[in-house]
Amino acid sequence: MNKIIPYPRVFTPPIDIKIGQFRDDVDLRPYYLSHQMQNHPLLELKSLVDLARRLPPIQREYVFAKQEFGTHETGDHYAHANEFDELSTEEMILNIEAQNRIIVLRNVESDSEYGEFVNETLDLLQEQIESVTGPISGRESFIFISPPRSYTPFHYDPEQNFFLQVLGRKEFAVYDVTDRDVMPEVALENFLTRSARTPCASEFFDRYQLFDLQPGLGVYVPTTAPHWVRTLDEVSISISINFRTPSSIRRHRVCRFNRMIRKIGLRPHPISPRADTRRDRFKAGVFEFPSRFRRLLSKGHKS
Ligand SMILES: [Fe+2]
Repeated sequence: MNKIIPYPRVFTPPIDIKIGQFRDDVDLRPYYLSHQMQNHPLLELKSLVDLARRLPPIQREYVFAKQEFGTHETGDHYAHANEFDELSTEEMILNIEAQNRIIVLRNVESDSEYGEFVNETLDLLQEQIESVTGPISGRESFIFISPPRSYTPFHYDPEQNFFLQVLGRKEFAVYDVTDRDVMPEVALENFLTRSARTPCASEFFDRYQLFDLQPGLGVYVPTTAPHWVRTLDEVSISISINFRTPSSIRRHRVCRFNRMIRKIGLRPHPISPRADTRRDRFKAGVFEFPSRFRRLLSKGHKS
């Protein structure tokens, strides 16, 4: 009888976040990471098929992949498993090469097996990360299974992101998070407060920095740094390990404050790159009050 040898539990971080570079670049600049996830059995296609069987439809997202390069993200590019019944998610993953869609397995940390994997990974990194950022929260993870020559258009996300390439090659383009031509203040506020997407103006579209990812490599993507992604001639598997930091939470709150100010006809001072000036800390602090107290304040303001 064959004896099953368990995958060895690792006690060194499976991602090298290059702590010195993380210290310098967090919230500001993307940079290459290295990792050892490419050999992890939970990230093999057959394990992902099993995971897809367990996840609810809302966590199985399809991104229409064969889009024209340079187009901008719209809600039409997305569907969930329950809106599409031609093939099951498992069948699509098994035949990913022929699909016209990227399969995104969302919030895989909700699954007990993958939750343990994500938590173990972040537990091993937590001390390093927190020595730079302060306490982290909102741990999440997404897995992307993509056919060859697929394209995810320009968009931005609210989390800190360690994006890791597990199988195949991927071009990952990241824009300067402080470039207000690429992402104007109002676009940032609309995204963080209403999840609204704003396209990149075509004259600024080529301002990206390109990361050529292959298994074992990854990229750190700062909170809200615009990006687009495309696969080359092979099937690709990638995983993102996401979390929030005090600075990413402040960023959200400063944008809420600025949008509030803008709505009453004032022009707010632009957010600072790390949302850490005294002004930004004050604005963010307003949202630390209990919501009932804030409602009283805003009633007072209107009267
Ligand atoms: Fe993204």
